[in-house]
Amino acid sequence: MIFAPPAMTTMHACASVSGGAICPPPAIHKPVLLDKVLKAFTPHDGGVYVDGTFGAGGYSAAILEAADCTVWGIDRDPYAITTGTAMKDKFGDRLELITGCFGDMGSLLAKHGVTRVEGVTFDLGVSSMQLDQPERGFSFRFNGPLDMRMEGNDAAGPSAADIVNNMDEKELADIIYHYGSERRSLHVARAIVKARSESPIIHTFQLAGIVRSVVRKSRDGIDPATRTFQALRIHVNNEIGELDRGLAAAERILSPGGTLAVVSFHSLEDRRVKGFLKQRSGATPRPSRHLPDTAVFSPAPSFTNISRGAVPPDKAETDVNPRARSGRMRTAIRTNEPAWEINPEQRSTGCFPTRENEKE
Ligand SMILES: C[S@@+](CC[C@H](N)C(=O)[O-])C[C@H]1O[C@@H](n2cnc3c(N)ncnc32)[C@H](O)[C@@H]1O
Repeated sequence: MIFAPPAMTTMHACASVSGGAICPPPAIHKPVLLDKVLKAFTPHDGGVYVDGTFGAGGYSAAILEAADCTVWGIDRDPYAITTGTAMKDKFGDRLELITGCFGDMGSLLAKHGVTRVEGVTFDLGVSSMQLDQPERGFSFRFNGPLDMRMEGNDAAGPSAADIVNNMDEKELADIIYHYGSERRSLHVARAIVKARSESPIIHTFQLAGIVRSVVRKSRDGIDPATRTFQALRIHVNNEIGELDRGLAAAERILSPGGTLAVVSFHSLEDRRVKGFLKQRSGATPRPSRHLPDTAVFSPAPSFTNISRGAVPPDKAETDVNPRARSGRMRTAIRTNEPAWEINPEQRSTGCFPTRENEKE
């Protein structure tokens, strides 16, 4: 389930792949739930914080403005990091930027001698800049190559086009169903397989057209292609696996008393964060009330003071930023107990190196 329609309902053909009208420059990303994240963090002088999803640097700037502290901004999108270096003119060495995945934050920061931090935040999903760049292929509002890799078109992992042109019909339907909550996933997958037997699906408009041919527009006006595009993006970037890795990495690097703040944009992500925090705070119920307590061994809670429910944005925020409607924040405080063992699924590679990184 998508919490609310993302701002993706109008169709512009401003950049046809073979030329045509020029698109406006990408919108500046408006940070979502920023005041609440900041309140949870209460940055203090000398503190060290991780902004695991740097994007346009909205969270990082606000943290740096709130105290004389240091922020390590991480983003898997090299474009976000390159653009963000301009912020160093204002913040100097208090802002440090790293290209990479937040699931790898332990090793990324250890290279710089950082092993403990006071706060970690993730503002999940894509930025407005990514959505607004037709050549990235994230949005069906523009025609562009069907790519969707956050690391960019040069990344080593498969693009959305690779997936839709090669994946088996059933697997495709499963992805569209699980990551997009598309009830007509079987019809979409079948239509994709039929279309690709005639010609390869390589552009965003092509895929959006195929989806619209088998899924009707819903009453709330959400474009039928929204759910399939979301599903492919999540799959291409292994966003759920990466979230699991990121939560476990945050648990390992946070100092006792440090804050974790995660902003999610759909229920799949939010459920994952909720489940992790519930488990790590010792709130997971026994599998059966007939089992004695001793039958279920759990390590001591590594998180406490979990936020009550998922915190939504207030109306003032959604009035000025419709994208914020889907945002939900969960926070927790690290205890001084050791981090839990990492599950095998959290060990999975969540992120694909760029071809350049691969050579290292
Ligand atoms: C919603 S935007 C963040 C916006 C940011 N809070 C701001 O105020 O500008 C999400 C960003 O996270 C990045 N991202 C998503 N998953 C990531 C991951 N696993 N590791 C690092 N960066 C990631 C995306 O590339 C994107 O730039």
